[in-house]
This record gives sequence, structure tokens and C-alpha cells, in this order.
Amino acid sequence: MDVQQLESTARALVAEGKGILAADESDGTIKKRFDSIGIESTEANRQAYRDMLFTTDGAEEYISGVILFDETIRQSALDGTPFPQVLDGRGIIPGIKVDLGAKPLALADGETVTEGLDGLRGRLEEYRSLGARFAKWRATYSIGGGRPSEYCVWTNAHALARYAALCQEAGIVPIVEPEVLQDGTHTIEESAVATGRVLQAVFTELHDQRVDFRGTLLKPNMVLSGYEASDRAGVEAVAEQTLEVFYRHVPAAVPGIVFLSGGQTDEDATAHLNAMNATGPHPWQLSFSYGRALQAPALKAWGGEVSKLEAGQQAYAKRARLNGAARSGDYKPEMEDAA
Ligand code: 13P
Repeated sequence: MDVQQLESTARALVAEGKGILAADESDGTIKKRFDSIGIESTEANRQAYRDMLFTTDGAEEYISGVILFDETIRQSALDGTPFPQVLDGRGIIPGIKVDLGAKPLALADGETVTEGLDGLRGRLEEYRSLGARFAKWRATYSIGGGRPSEYCVWTNAHALARYAALCQEAGIVPIVEPEVLQDGTHTIEESAVATGRVLQAVFTELHDQRVDFRGTLLKPNMVLSGYEASDRAGVEAVAEQTLEVFYRHVPAAVPGIVFLSGGQTDEDATAHLNAMNATGPHPWQLSFSYGRALQAPALKAWGGEVSKLEAGQQAYAKRARLNGAARSGDYKPEMEDAA
């Protein structure tokens, strides 16, 4: 294993002022996103949409890497250049989602385990030849009714570590993504406990399976009150509670924590990241790997119309820039109103 090369890729992904665009929606998820703007999820529409995002001029100032889906890493831009090369040419590192989705966990009502380990070594080799330098694997956990169970926590931690070890062996930086879903009525304290338990298991398994933390990135949820909770914690409390959990559970050797947005509004996701960075420096870079929080306004502005491509790109560039500012605690809500 070439730890230096892995570490240098991981550090480039969390370079100052930059973060990751998660554009790795599976077929089912991209269909949901397209349904929300009333367009059909055809291969051509998916290509046009990703082309719009990946060819946005100036995005590379704030975007270090893009996570692709299997279809997209094999697809070309509208000008015929393969998408991984389009990104590479702009100084953006291509990555790939390699898990095959969260499936019901046997004998555990309402819980999931993420699948995709069978044949993963071969798939990683192919993805690397297609240009991927990092990968992602997402596990999900819910809060409430005795969940997450220890069984779910440890089963997913074991799979995440098996994935991460295979990635490092292949020279690919694993983004380890344990997402404690923030749906429901739970308190922020309950979210902190669940997130802490999950991270404890994940770092135990990563260590036991010989994964080198220096060549790894963590992609966690932020610690929030449940989206349906009555008295939801504000920005400062979210920043404080989230940092507290990470200080307790994440080794300083991990170069970066790249948060997912997980259904927060785009402005909340930016404000929360900003508040955490405003109290830095911290042992790890605190950055973003947002899907919805980077794409939602762009998707809406585009609406599937060729004439609105530029509006879509502007909306995406704006969110990239504001999240770039949140990397150093320099974001201010007033910046939302500027062009
Ligand atoms: P969201 O930011 O929309 O949660 O997506 C990030 C992601 O990659 C989920 O796996």
C-alpha cells in the first residue's frame, strides 16, 4: 500500500477552501430528483444534467473532487470527452460510488446493511483504470424505537472497513460514509449518542482491518435535532454538539471530515459548516461532500431546459462558492443575496 500517495489524494480533496460534489445518485435517486422538476430520467437527460454541472466554469476554485455513479464514469460529456477526463482537465479529482445500496438487514426490523463487497476488488481495479482516485460507500442508520441496534452498528462498521481496506490496496482513497439519518423527532442529544456509537464502531473496525487513517476521509452526518422535532437546535448548538462527538471519536490522523448534507436545506448546510470552521483550527479539515445542498438550486434553475443551462450553472457555482467560504468560517447569510 502506498500510504503517501493515498494521503496526498486525501489532502488534495480537502484542500483549503474546497470540498466535494456528490453527483453519484443511483438510478432510483436521480429519478426522484428529476421527478421533482417534472423531467424524465432518461440517459440523455442524466448526461445533459451532469454535463451542465461538470462544465461549470470556475467551479474548480471550490470543488476538489466529484463522486460519480457507475453510469456516469463510463459516460462522455456532450462534446464527446469522457466525464472523468473533463473533470481531470479542470483539476477536479474523479471519484466513484462503489456500494450497491442499503438493503434490509436480516432479523433487524427497519434496519439496513449496505451491500457490494462481492467482486469489489475487480470493480475497483476497473474504476481506477477509468480514472477514479477515490471512492465512497454509504451505510445508513435510523434513530428511535431502539435503533440503531448494536447488531446494525457493528455489521455496517465491518462492511465499511472491508470496503476501505480493498480501496487502499487498490490505491484508491476510501470515503467512509456512516450516515445516521436525521429524520424523526429525536433530540440533538439522541443524535449525538447514536452518531458517537456509530463512529466508535467504524474506527474500531477500520483499525482492526489495518486501514491507514492517513489515507482515508470520513463522510458523516452532522448532529441535528430530528427534522420533525418540535424544538430544533440552532446553528451554534449544532456546531458545538457535532464537534464534541468528532473530538471524542475521530483520530487526528484522518485528514478530513467531509460532511453530507442529508436533507438539510442548502443554506443550513452551509451555515452549520461555517459555524464549525469559525471555531477552528481543528485536528482535521472540516469540509463538505454535499449532494442535495450543492445541487438543489441548480436542478430547479435548470428545470431540464437547454435555454436555462446557464442559470443552472450559476446556481451551482454560487453554492460551491458559499460552501468554499464556509471552509474558513467566512460565510455570512447576507452573501446569499449577492449575485
Ligand atoms: P446529500 O448531501 O444529499 O446527503 O448527499 C450526499 C451523499 O453522497 C449521500 O450519500
